Amino acid sequence: MTDYAEVDFFADLPIQIEPTSYFDYLRDKGPVAWLPHRKVVAVTGLDEALEVYRDPETFSSCNAVTGPIPGLQCPLEGDDISAAIADHRHELPMSQYLVTQDPPRHRELRSLLMRLFTPKRMGENEDFMWRLSDTLIDEFIDRGKCDFKAAYAAPFALHVIADLLGVPEEEHAKFREHFAPPPGTANEQMAHDPLAFIEDIFTEFVEDRRRHPRKDVLTSVANAKLPDGSTPEVADVVRTATFLFAAGQETTATFMTSAMRYLADDSALQGRLRSDPAQIPAFLEEMLRLEAPVKTLFRLVRRTTELGGVKLPAGTTVMVALAGANRDPRRFECPYHVDPNRDNASEHLAFGRGIHSCPGGPLARIEARVSLERLLARLGDIRLDEAVHGPAGERRFDYLPTYILRGLMNLNLEFERS
Ligand code: HEM
Repeated sequence: MTDYAEVDFFADLPIQIEPTSYFDYLRDKGPVAWLPHRKVVAVTGLDEALEVYRDPETFSSCNAVTGPIPGLQCPLEGDDISAAIADHRHELPMSQYLVTQDPPRHRELRSLLMRLFTPKRMGENEDFMWRLSDTLIDEFIDRGKCDFKAAYAAPFALHVIADLLGVPEEEHAKFREHFAPPPGTANEQMAHDPLAFIEDIFTEFVEDRRRHPRKDVLTSVANAKLPDGSTPEVADVVRTATFLFAAGQETTATFMTSAMRYLADDSALQGRLRSDPAQIPAFLEEMLRLEAPVKTLFRLVRRTTELGGVKLPAGTTVMVALAGANRDPRRFECPYHVDPNRDNASEHLAFGRGIHSCPGGPLARIEARVSLERLLARLGDIRLDEAVHGPAGERRFDYLPTYILRGLMNLNLEFERS
C-alpha cells in the first residue's frame, strides 16, 4: 500500500488519476493540509474551498490552471507578494486568458463574455443541440458500437461552442477537423495547436464584423463594449471567445462520457432514465459531484492569511481539490454513493464558485441533458464493449494522464437500435 505521507502528488501519476482516497487521507489530517513538497496546501473541505473562492483579494488566480508547475519563477518574500505577481504573472501558463486574471482586469474580460450567455442565446443554442444530437447519432447508429467520446461527446461539445459564438454552420466542419478529428484520421496524429488555429479564424471574424456589421451573433461579440463603454482590443475579444473552446470542450465531453459510463454499467438505472427522462437532471448533478471533470484548481496566496486554522504565508500555492471537497462527509452523507435523489447534490463545486465560477455551467448541464435524452431514446441496451473494457468486476479504463482533469480517454459502447 502506498505511504501517502511522502507522496509528491504532482509527480505521482497513479494517484493523480484516482486521487479520491489520497484526498480522503488529506482531509483526515484536516480540511486544509500541507503537502510535503512544493509549498502547496491542499483544501479538501467544501466550506474551506468556498472561503478561498470568495476572497479573490487574498487568493490570486494567476496560477489557477497549473498550480505549482511551473509556479512563479522569482523569490516570493514577505507578507504581501502583489508586486511579484504583477511583474511575473505573464510567465505563467494561460496568463492571457480570463481564468488566470484577478480584478479589475478579470471584471472587464468577464463582462465581454457574459453577453453571450443571455437567455435568448442559450435558447437558440439549445435548439441547435437537439438537431446536432440526432445528426451525430446518425453517423454511428448503424454500426451498433462506437467510441462514445470520439464519435459523440467531443464533436458535440465542440459544435455547441461554435454555435454559441455564432460561427456559421458551414464553417463547423473545419473546426471539427482541427479540434475533434475522427479517430484514426491523419489529422488526429498531426501535431497542431487548435487554439492558435481558432484564434486566427476569430481574428478574421472580429475584424470583418467590426468593418461590416451584420445582424448576427458574431457582430455582437465583435462589438461588445467594456464596462466603462470603451471598445476592447481585437485580441481581447478573440482570446475571450477562443478560451471557451479550451474551457468548455474537453470538460463537457468528459462529463458526458463519465455519465454514459455509469449508465452503460447499470442497466436498471439506464432503464429508469429511459422511461422517465425527467430524472436525468438529478442523475447528472450526482455525476458532476462524483466525476467533476476538473479535479483540482489553484490559487496563490497574495497576502499572508489563515484558512481553516492553518497559517498560509504569502506565496503559498493553494490546491482546491474539487474531487475531495465534493466528497466532504461533513456536507454529503455517504459521499461515495451515487444517489440521484440526494437533495443537496447541487452544492458540489464542479463549476467552482465566486467571481470565476464557470459561466458555461448552465450550458454544460443542458448539453448533457439533451444528449442523454436523445441517446437513451434512440439507443437500446447500451453496454460497455467488453473487448475493450473487460468483463464486469474487471473493468479497465484509461484516464487522461493529468492532475487537473478527470476524464476517460475513450468509452467503447455497444447498443441496439431502439
Ligand atoms: C462539465 C463541464 C464544465 C466544467 C466541469 C467546468 C468547470 C469549470 C471550473 C471549475 C471553473 C472555475 C475555474 C476557477 O475558479 O479557477 C470554470 C471556469 C470557466 N469555464 Fe467552465 N466548466 C465546464 C464547461 C464549460 C463550458 C461549456 C464553457 C463555455 C462554453 C466554460 C467556460 C468557462 C470559462 C470561460 C471559465 C473562466 C471563468 C472566469 O475565470 O471568470 N466551461 N469552469
